[in-house]
Amino acid sequence: MIRMNDLIRKKRDGLALGADEIRDMIASYTCGDIPDYQMSAMMMAIYFNGMNRDETLALTLAMRDSGDTLDLSGISGIKVDKHSTGGVGDKTSIALAPLVAAAGAKVAKMSGRGLGHTGGTIDKLECFPGFSTELSEKAFIDQVNKTGLAIMGQTKDLAPADKKLYALRDVTATVEQISLIASSVMSKKLACGADGIVLDVKCGSGAFMKDISSARALAREMTEIGKGAGKKMRALITDMDEPLGYAVGNILEVKEAIETLKGKGPEDFTKLCLLLGSRMLMLSGICDDEDKASELLMKKIEDGSALEKLADFVKAQGGDERYVYEPDRFKEAEKVTELKAWDNGYIEKIICDEAGFSSMLLGAGRAKKEDKIDSCAGIVFEKKKGDEVKTGDVIARLYHGSAVGAGASLARLKAAVTIGTDKVPDKKILIDEIE
Ligand code: URA
Repeated sequence: MIRMNDLIRKKRDGLALGADEIRDMIASYTCGDIPDYQMSAMMMAIYFNGMNRDETLALTLAMRDSGDTLDLSGISGIKVDKHSTGGVGDKTSIALAPLVAAAGAKVAKMSGRGLGHTGGTIDKLECFPGFSTELSEKAFIDQVNKTGLAIMGQTKDLAPADKKLYALRDVTATVEQISLIASSVMSKKLACGADGIVLDVKCGSGAFMKDISSARALAREMTEIGKGAGKKMRALITDMDEPLGYAVGNILEVKEAIETLKGKGPEDFTKLCLLLGSRMLMLSGICDDEDKASELLMKKIEDGSALEKLADFVKAQGGDERYVYEPDRFKEAEKVTELKAWDNGYIEKIICDEAGFSSMLLGAGRAKKEDKIDSCAGIVFEKKKGDEVKTGDVIARLYHGSAVGAGASLARLKAAVTIGTDKVPDKKILIDEIE
């Protein structure tokens, strides 16, 4: 039986905990033998004194092993996954997974719904009528072998220690610690069993990491954990200082992902898919050079096979694949309200998280787990950073139900946009890469 107060004292005094101590502590906390008040003290001690790499890896593995782990050995070849730390308009998985699968990669992915400005990947996939993410492990594995990709919802028992600990950190002001964030994210990723993981660490006003130095630190920490657990890892730090693409909101984003697979997507989003996808192909051993991988992915867009792969995937999971080829079938919002330019000039800034809140006010996201999402709601930008505008030009269209007034959302979005007089330097989606 561990003596939790000895461990708390050790961490409080700046000493490192042993891997066995961490494993026992997490197991005892998960089953309720260690009370929240002692774990809160431990989290605060870690918050102030940090953890070294060995401790962080031990914590991650202990949380991974606290519940179900997926055994993907029944899938032939190298399995790759990607994880994004999340942002506004992040529809990447919907386009990226079929894109890399069309190029031969095996994608076995677990995704969540999540709180936030728009739903998670699962909410977006469920915009296809009939689509189900409740797959048995066997059906999931069979589908990856047959189609090259499958996405299932996170099982309730995925890293339960993290679920309990994250809820505790949330109410004890101990979320914002790099080792704790990295171990939390990676415990869930490692439980999903892929051999190679590409991390998309977002940086900017719409991201969890607001500045480049903390984004780099998180990317490094997660990469080291993955390598320590025997995984092939790559991490990109990408821009989230303005919404990704033009669309924010579930059906709106799915339509944009479809357009992207037809080669008609927004430039920043298409570039991001090629950047992440090329790293996934390299981890899969399909390509050994980023440029060649990117060319192969472009070919899969141009010859229509990436779009076809999305349709196969939607159909395999019970969804109506006609929506892939005829996106006008998707339901539309009852009302559209426009944000128009109030001056001549250039869009200097769109405060990204404010744009996200604005879409949430329209019904596109949930503030609480129980909230219902309006899958038609959201925002489509006509103009983004650097674009020239004239007074009266439409900057964005807000989509919403007739019962939801757009006033508060419109005011919030307007306050998030700055129109300046000077041209703005070109933005780059890729900020840095950690190998
Ligand atoms: N997301 C997670 O899953 N865990 C954290 O600690 C922070 C963000």
